[in-house]
Amino acid sequence: SPLRQSAVHESAHAHVTGAARYVDDLPEPGGMLHGLPVGSPVARGRVVARRAERALALPGVRAVLFAADVPGHNRIGPIVHDEPLLAEDEVFAVGQTVALVIGDSVAACRAGAQALELEFEELPAILTVAEALAAGSFLCPPHEMRRGDVAAALARAALVIEGEVSTGGQDHFYLETQASLAIPGEDDTIHLESSTQHPTEVQIACSEVLGCPRNHIVVAVPRMGGAFGGKESQASQFAALAALAARVTGRPVKVWLSRDLDMTMTGKRHPFWSRYRAGLDARGRLLGLEVELVADGGWSVDLSPAILDRGMFHIDNGYFVPNLHFVGKAVRTNKASNTAFRGFGGPQGMAVMEEVLSRAAERLGLDPAEIRRRNYYGDCPDEHGPENMVHVPVPDDEQTSAGASVISLVRARCLTPYYQEVPHCRLPRIHAELLQRCDWDARRAEIAEFNARSPWQKRGLGFMPVKFGISFTNTMLNQAGALVLIYADGSVQLNHGGTEMGQGLHTKMLAVCAHELGVTTAQIRCMATATDKVPNTSATAASSGSDLNGMAVQRACAEIRERVRPLAAELLGGVAPEAVQFVAGAAVGPDGRKVLWSELAKTAWMRRLSLSAAGYYATPNIAYDRSAGRGKPFHYFAYGAAAIEVEISGLTGEHRILRADLLHDVGSSLLPTIDLGQVEGGFIQGVGWVTGEELVWDAKGRLLTHGPSTYKIPAVGDCPTVFNVALLEHAEQDGTIHGSKAVGEPPLMLGLGVVSALRQAIAAFGPGEVALQIPCTPEAILRAVVRQREGAA
Ligand code: MTE
Ligand code: MOS
Repeated sequence: SPLRQSAVHESAHAHVTGAARYVDDLPEPGGMLHGLPVGSPVARGRVVARRAERALALPGVRAVLFAADVPGHNRIGPIVHDEPLLAEDEVFAVGQTVALVIGDSVAACRAGAQALELEFEELPAILTVAEALAAGSFLCPPHEMRRGDVAAALARAALVIEGEVSTGGQDHFYLETQASLAIPGEDDTIHLESSTQHPTEVQIACSEVLGCPRNHIVVAVPRMGGAFGGKESQASQFAALAALAARVTGRPVKVWLSRDLDMTMTGKRHPFWSRYRAGLDARGRLLGLEVELVADGGWSVDLSPAILDRGMFHIDNGYFVPNLHFVGKAVRTNKASNTAFRGFGGPQGMAVMEEVLSRAAERLGLDPAEIRRRNYYGDCPDEHGPENMVHVPVPDDEQTSAGASVISLVRARCLTPYYQEVPHCRLPRIHAELLQRCDWDARRAEIAEFNARSPWQKRGLGFMPVKFGISFTNTMLNQAGALVLIYADGSVQLNHGGTEMGQGLHTKMLAVCAHELGVTTAQIRCMATATDKVPNTSATAASSGSDLNGMAVQRACAEIRERVRPLAAELLGGVAPEAVQFVAGAAVGPDGRKVLWSELAKTAWMRRLSLSAAGYYATPNIAYDRSAGRGKPFHYFAYGAAAIEVEISGLTGEHRILRADLLHDVGSSLLPTIDLGQVEGGFIQGVGWVTGEELVWDAKGRLLTHGPSTYKIPAVGDCPTVFNVALLEHAEQDGTIHGSKAVGEPPLMLGLGVVSALRQAIAAFGPGEVALQIPCTPEAILRAVVRQREGAA
């Protein structure tokens, strides 16, 4: 990439000095009130009474709002409008908002909440996936993918394994909890400052709740103190509550959640439960796979159908499965509504496949990296005989949506279960390079030696490849806009539709803008994301923020640059316009003469040339037919792999990551420093999901782990002692901004490699297959060790 330079995050200094402002840090407008949502104490029940008189009698309590106070629609939700903003006759989860207390201070609101008289008649609740399946409680139609003849493949398989995999939820634990400030203006308008990944959806929710057109609502997002998917759909509720309160009181209202309230009220990563049957040949190659993948969506639809879909799209991870039948279901339970979380179902889908391969490797006595290598997409003529294909009865004349012959793509082992071609799978290359970098073979031998002489401390070396599809799988969402304003002094304001949550999107957009205009990043300010600058935006999600907005920024800048090019040529003494270069804050002629950008901008203004432009981009050639289970949902795939060494104590079940080597494919990196940070952070967050982070509910559906004292996210001490992170070189991607690839989510799934490593260490305690559940807490590890040792006795 022409940008490939190290860059400091545009807010790095502000982040570490505390100068960075989040919603709760903004100067409070005069007369501002606070709003505190009050949640249901029961998992399911009828609301039989809601009385606010006692609360309203308290000093500082200004108003209490219930569903009846909503002037427009009381229902919100990103796909289906099935979530009452304020509970109606029934409540469906602990923490579902029943009332909003508005007061002069947070303390007054809390006292008011205590004094509310809310009565519920409890109804039977569904609290587990098993109960939901038994009750037929579903959130959306199932999603199915098929190919070939699985029964025949399993019948001739040398090894058949079946089992169940559960993966737990995960709290986003963004540093900044949900927060919105609504300021009422003239003509029933509202201006919101919101901590949201999706300003447009906040705008829509507010307009619908208030019953006014969208042009009455402006939503601005300066930055978020982390989001991780938790503010893709779920910021809307708190913003709409603030907007409603501002409308009712005529005063600015801030809704901000404490950590405990945030953890109780908001949805998490979806827990999944799955059942599988897999057939492999004697060399560990997959012949057939049946999976039933079930997502626990919680009480409302939210983004569950899309998350289930992405789970289905990632069961295969990086491996070719000739014969398959996958069925995906999303169940409705009486828990907080689960939502987007980095990976968006992908990690849960992959966890099934990785369990299959780990178990198969243990049965067949294979190296965990080797069994994976044997299954990668792409042709390995020496490894994969034609016998793999016998049971794929696809008609010869069938074609993919891209027009290729299905049978030839199956023969070439490069067709996904949803019939998208994997053109050049980078995993074999990443695999070879990583094994060499991390000294795989020698360390396997060293670890075996260590384990032979260490009775209670055992080590394991695990391996995890990742292939992740990039694009929103709802094709419509793959669009973005930008608005670039240049002032007559040459300074630039950059607006784009993406939001900044720490991932470095603004820093990347500044780099793209600077490159395109030939100015320095110091001459540009990236403005707060706002719906009155770029309309109808998609959420900054699916890792596609820089892919989509980068193209839009590039186009807006190119338009202005080309507009002023003839003028620059004239000012440079009448040189050929195409010979003018825009670099380092100047227009440069072929003879080296320069006109400063500020001079050019001033002259352009005097000559009455427009110095602003909008840019727009929509990803080409993607489409998916969910009912057929076929299409090309992804623009391309991102790849990566991790080799991870752990040490566990067979006495306590505790573990440490001694070393992790990550090699990740971000295409031709836009900004390597930013991308390295994303790979490191994503990986550690994935490690947290599969190890220490465990959500516990009581029998009444109340979350017990609603704060940092009971819910443990990884700390500095949990990071690998040796942490080698590298970006794949010479990895330019076709058809993306400067050849780069999305980076936000894919590295999270490298964290699953810790499970592979832990299994290796546990296996050192005794013979046979390891039984290890996710999350691999010390308790889970200890149980697995005991089981292994019993096998040895
Ligand atoms: N990195 C930081 N620091 N904070 C975040 O909240 N969110 C992740 C990822 N990286 C997140 C992050 C998620 S879930 C996504 S989808 C992407 O960033 C979104 O941004 P992008 O599309 O610009 O990569
Ligand atoms: Mo990310 S889970 O797509 O916000």
